[in-house]
Amino acid sequence: MNIILLGPPGAGKGTQAKRLEARYGLVQISTGDMLRAEVAAGSELGLKAKEIMARGDFLPDDVMVAMIDKRVQRPDCARGFILDGFPRTESQAEALDAMLRKRGMKIDAVLLLDVDEAELTERIAGRFTCAKCGASYHDTLKPTQKPNVCDVCGSHEFTRRPDDNRETVANRLAVYRRQTAPILPYYKDEGRLERIDGMASIQSVATAIDQYLEKLGAKPVS
Ligand code: AP5
Repeated sequence: MNIILLGPPGAGKGTQAKRLEARYGLVQISTGDMLRAEVAAGSELGLKAKEIMARGDFLPDDVMVAMIDKRVQRPDCARGFILDGFPRTESQAEALDAMLRKRGMKIDAVLLLDVDEAELTERIAGRFTCAKCGASYHDTLKPTQKPNVCDVCGSHEFTRRPDDNRETVANRLAVYRRQTAPILPYYKDEGRLERIDGMASIQSVATAIDQYLEKLGAKPVS
């Protein structure tokens, strides 16, 4: 099963994608994580991405489409994937459909995590991540069980994203409204869009997603 997770910055796409990966044996394809890996590696793309991401703007569509085209061809995607952060523009949405059609693949579910803007800034400002395994936490909404110890891998090292500051978040939300929200009718008109109440607790969001996917035939592996 191939899934798109849509929603504004901080809506919970990464949180749910990681969980879906484990529950259904799918692969999370996070364009944000892929770009952050390029930045960390100091590649040519990473150097370009670093500045753009720090402002909260988008990378060019052709760069992102080529990145996804290459990624979905890897063997680990055979059982299915979860797109987290792609598509983000109308041009990316159209290119995705064309690329999958060419390969005899398709998107089975498009989930929109709907969250009020006021809540998003709060979620992003408190977010931190395990530097070793990438598990995501929040200062108050999802703290580690033991202070300063990752629940998943036991590491004591955590990081915060450079674009998770209030000024950049304001621009990320504006860019979402301007460039990403217009793709929602593209999926809605084709009856492919399922709206999930992203204001609910992480567990309730998870339950709503699982119920929908299992109605479509998804089979848990764990
Ligand atoms: P990206 O990394 O994709 O960032 P984003 O879309 O802004 O999304 P986030 O990762 O901030 O939020 P999320 O929805 O995953 O929320 P999370 O689960 O962490 O992109 C970064 C940048 O890369 C872009 O700005 C752009 O520059 C570039 N880029 C990426 N893709 C691109 C593309 N396709 N085209 C062009 N440029 C691209 O949750 C947030 C916090 O809230 C966490 O702390 C979590 O614990 C908590 N939380 C989650 N769910 C809940 C809940 N239900 N209740 C309470 N707390 C919750």
